[in-house]
Amino acid sequence: MPQTLSNEYVLDVTENSSSNKAKMIVKEYNKIGEGAFGTVVEAIIKYHYSENTDGDLDKSNEWLGPFAIKRVPAQTEYKSRELELLRIVNHPNIVGLKYFFDKKNPKDGIIYQNLVMECLPSNLQNEIKFYRQSKYTIPYPHMKAYTFQLARAMLYLHGFGISHRDIKPSNILVDPSKVTLKICDFGSAKKLEPNQPSVSYICSRYYRAPELIIGCQVYTTKIDIWGLGCVIAEMFLGKPIFQGQSPELQLKEISKLLGPPSNSFFFKSNPHYRGSMFQTRLFNCSIKERFEQIFSNSPPDAIDLLLKILVYDPEVRASPKEVLVHPFFHELKKENFQVYPRGTNVPIVLNLFNFSNYELELLGDLKNEFLNNN
Ligand SMILES: Nc1ncnc2c1ncn2[C@@H]1O[C@H](COP(=O)(O)OP(=O)(O)OP(=O)(O)O)[C@@H](O)[C@H]1O
Ligand SMILES: [Mg+2]
Repeated sequence: MPQTLSNEYVLDVTENSSSNKAKMIVKEYNKIGEGAFGTVVEAIIKYHYSENTDGDLDKSNEWLGPFAIKRVPAQTEYKSRELELLRIVNHPNIVGLKYFFDKKNPKDGIIYQNLVMECLPSNLQNEIKFYRQSKYTIPYPHMKAYTFQLARAMLYLHGFGISHRDIKPSNILVDPSKVTLKICDFGSAKKLEPNQPSVSYICSRYYRAPELIIGCQVYTTKIDIWGLGCVIAEMFLGKPIFQGQSPELQLKEISKLLGPPSNSFFFKSNPHYRGSMFQTRLFNCSIKERFEQIFSNSPPDAIDLLLKILVYDPEVRASPKEVLVHPFFHELKKENFQVYPRGTNVPIVLNLFNFSNYELELLGDLKNEFLNNN
């Protein structure tokens, strides 16, 4: 249940796209999230003009928003690159940063960084829960549209070398009335440099890629693709697919679907790994048959996509562009494709293929798969 609050203040705010500073009034009225690192509130804001300002005051002095303001301590031991990265990115499937400001909390004297972002009404965790409560899953056309948008955001981010490093349903915002999706929470994100080590203790356990579990430090953006696979699986199953009871047992959960990891996987990811290797095979059929058992209610094209994503070896694991051209999404490309948003019987057309030149470049030859849909 969101907590209501009412808090109004005036301060200097920086507009993200222009970097211009202006005095603004911020009015917070709803708490929408409380995470490990910060608080998210819903707010509206407007420019603050002095009394004798003349001109077109009424028109330019409207409340703007609603926005979501994420507030985190400005200086901590943990290095957050959230502001820095949100200022670089600009994509329809990544939450947009509109303004930012620092503010001291009079209660604890700590300076907080405030990120003013576009506000979406829900996240994928809530959506999955909503349908599970009525014993349904998210409708397939919606799943396809959400997955496509998620993979599109990854194509864009990974093109810059940026890894989100915390892909999970609660960090994926959705607007069920428009069937649109935007990744949020760049608190763990990092631009990965080739062959440079990064911490492996990253990403929420259930969504952590197998190479991270065994302590790989020179990983790639493919760790996000693993998270994508876990999110797709969760949309089909209504619950997280790999629910390990400890960081190490997380690998055992994965081996129940993929079979034991190979020796070369351990060697390539972390030759110093000395933990359990979970070498006992826990099922007798082939891996494909195992997927068909676990996803017994899912269509074959979805199972085929998951077989290409949930792979131990990150080099073999599908890339964002391989995901985007998978037959699972062919339905989205049909000429008269439309979806019925939750709770309505009025269909809408989705604008999923408005690729920028940068995205088309990243798609390379595969862009031809989409050009008829522009
Ligand atoms: N722009 C937004 N619009 C709407 N809701 C948002 C927005 N940003 C964040 N939220 C909500 O607030 C929650 C917490 O935000 P976020 O994940 O960025 O913070 P966090 O402190 O890093 O969280 P955690 O540690 O739990 O991952 C999100 O799960 C989401 O439900
Ligand atoms: Mg989060």
